Amino acid sequence: MVKIAKLNKKQNGDMVLLTGSSHPELAKEIAKNLGIPLGDVLLGRFPEGEIQLQIRDNIRGKDVFIVQPTCTPPNESLMELLILIDAARRASAKRITAVLPFFGYARQDRKDKPRVPITAKLVANLIVSAGANRVLAMDLHAGQIQGFFDIPVDHLYSINVLGSYFKKKKIKDLVVVSPDVGGIKMARGYAKLFDCDFAIVDKRRENASQTHVMHIIGAVAGKNVIIIDDMISTGGSLVEAAKALKTAGALDIYANIVHPVLAGSAVERIQSSVIKELIVTNSIPLGKEKRIKKITQLSIAPLLADAICRIHYNESISTLFSSAGVEA
Ligand code: R5P
Repeated sequence: MVKIAKLNKKQNGDMVLLTGSSHPELAKEIAKNLGIPLGDVLLGRFPEGEIQLQIRDNIRGKDVFIVQPTCTPPNESLMELLILIDAARRASAKRITAVLPFFGYARQDRKDKPRVPITAKLVANLIVSAGANRVLAMDLHAGQIQGFFDIPVDHLYSINVLGSYFKKKKIKDLVVVSPDVGGIKMARGYAKLFDCDFAIVDKRRENASQTHVMHIIGAVAGKNVIIIDDMISTGGSLVEAAKALKTAGALDIYANIVHPVLAGSAVERIQSSVIKELIVTNSIPLGKEKRIKKITQLSIAPLLADAICRIHYNESISTLFSSAGVEA
């Protein structure tokens, strides 16, 4: 449990934590860490599938935090979030913070082909238009997405949570690997934390589920490897990178990936791969079928609870990153 020493009864009463159906377990864990109950939301569907909800607590003048990763099914999760924000705004909440442990559509953050949308920006616009006053996000696919929101964004990193797990393992002859050029900054942060070298896999994406490794930049032969990435979707990038690293002479291969989207046959791919262990956070729930021995899930609830508490009291959250080698 986080040390939330300054939560006093009066101010604590001003804080309300709500959630939709995308990840109630995480919301419950955050509430437990904060020492407050989860707000009462009646959530259902009209016969034709439209979302129907009602916030059953009085939230007039309250500091409302809505915990809702926009994970699978992404469109349902997003719509629930927007409707919850709208309901909170119309119920006269003093301030509404959208807590997005995982921000779906993040990969569609630029026009990389003609006539494609920038859906990450569209989603940010929707969240702001619905009435959110702040966003609390974690390990966004690209830091620049913060600028898509014209409201304050607090951007957390899970490096301390994932990093401490590995530090305890005391793995020798370590090298951190980014599975693509876009992940260099993140891998560098981990290499700094572990005080080791880092290498890069130069990958080309053939289509949404297949990637091809072109080169490995850096020394990996005779080394134990930790592959670092922000998300695993089909598992194509990770499994191909691991295979290429093994061929290049790497020893044990671990993967440290923040958001376990694990779409399609990703879990089977991991199971039959050369990867020794995949460590993920609980930014996205892992269904029963995804809980295999090779996958370890670590909780970010204490980190989110700490950040929520600091936001509530207008305290700096940059101290949460002091040992991470990552700037807040
Ligand atoms: C890409 O830029 C991301 O950081 C991940 O590497 C990618 O989204 C993983 O997707 P998949 O698991 O489908 O290869």
